[in-house]
Amino acid sequence: MNYHVPVLLQEIIDGLQVSEGKKYIDATFGGGGHGMEIVKAGGELLGIDVDPEALEHARRKIENGEWKIDKKKIALVQGNFRDIDTIAQDNGFYPVDGILFDLGVSGHQLDDRERGFSYKFADAPFDLRLNQEEGAPASEIINHENEEQLSAIIGTYGEEESCGRIAHALVNNRVKKPFRTTGDVLHSIQEVTGDRNTYKTASRVFQAFRIVVNDELSSLKKGLDGAESVLKPGGRIAVISFHSLEDRIVKQFFQRSGFTLVTKKPIRPTRMEQQENKRSRSAKLRIAEKI
Ligand SMILES: C[S@@+](CC[C@H](N)C(=O)[O-])C[C@H]1O[C@@H](n2cnc3c(N)ncnc32)[C@H](O)[C@@H]1O
Repeated sequence: MNYHVPVLLQEIIDGLQVSEGKKYIDATFGGGGHGMEIVKAGGELLGIDVDPEALEHARRKIENGEWKIDKKKIALVQGNFRDIDTIAQDNGFYPVDGILFDLGVSGHQLDDRERGFSYKFADAPFDLRLNQEEGAPASEIINHENEEQLSAIIGTYGEEESCGRIAHALVNNRVKKPFRTTGDVLHSIQEVTGDRNTYKTASRVFQAFRIVVNDELSSLKKGLDGAESVLKPGGRIAVISFHSLEDRIVKQFFQRSGFTLVTKKPIRPTRMEQQENKRSRSAKLRIAEKI
């Protein structure tokens, strides 16, 4: 099975104007779908990912020759892109011609039941951490936050209208048995939704807790600020976002002085790409150039 099917691949290579001898950072390396294409197109790449497993997978592919690339053209670093400027400087990879953020989780992370990213595995641990070596799983938030805070999390980061009722169900149910699995969470959601819309609601609730557990929105803001300082004048930042909270941050960041918009409106995957890769459906790509 594919580790991850890259979204808007050609649009990224074109949009970042990848060419021989230029330097690029892939701040969300994942399965290397975009990163490897950048290297094949002649770029030198610094690949960053917060998930140690993603980088282990990539290193194996490079070592066993499955990825036929010049090893000197790629460096991989485990870290959070909120520290992109320090990571670039520490690795002598600075300034650069282009930076990619392909936000969210990879297909592999979604399909790995132990990570708890998907509600399709009912008995998986409700974890949701991008890096399982840091912080606490999402189940701890459900078990310890008060009802008002849980409602605020689900409402703000999941944009879910029934946030109050879901928070109430969670708090009621955790008294009987502490939350541990994705199934425990689904069960509480189902109490509120009945059988209708359970999965749509679950995807918003899971999104909310994932954002909080990984501090995703503030990492994105810091990451974009850091990216600006690492970029050469004339260099480009490309961001693929998957929900409106991320997209709003990107849009506002690019509207600041210091950037010219390359994409006046976000680029969406073609209908064919959306049919072939369902996970691409909500993707929006915005690109801007540093003045
Ligand atoms: C959608 S996947 C990227 C897929 C990749 N472009 C490809 O084609 O294979 C997103 C990746 O970003 C990583 N990630 C998410 N937030 C991050 C952060 N704040 N810092 C570094 N990596 C992050 C995730 O661990 C995941 O591997």
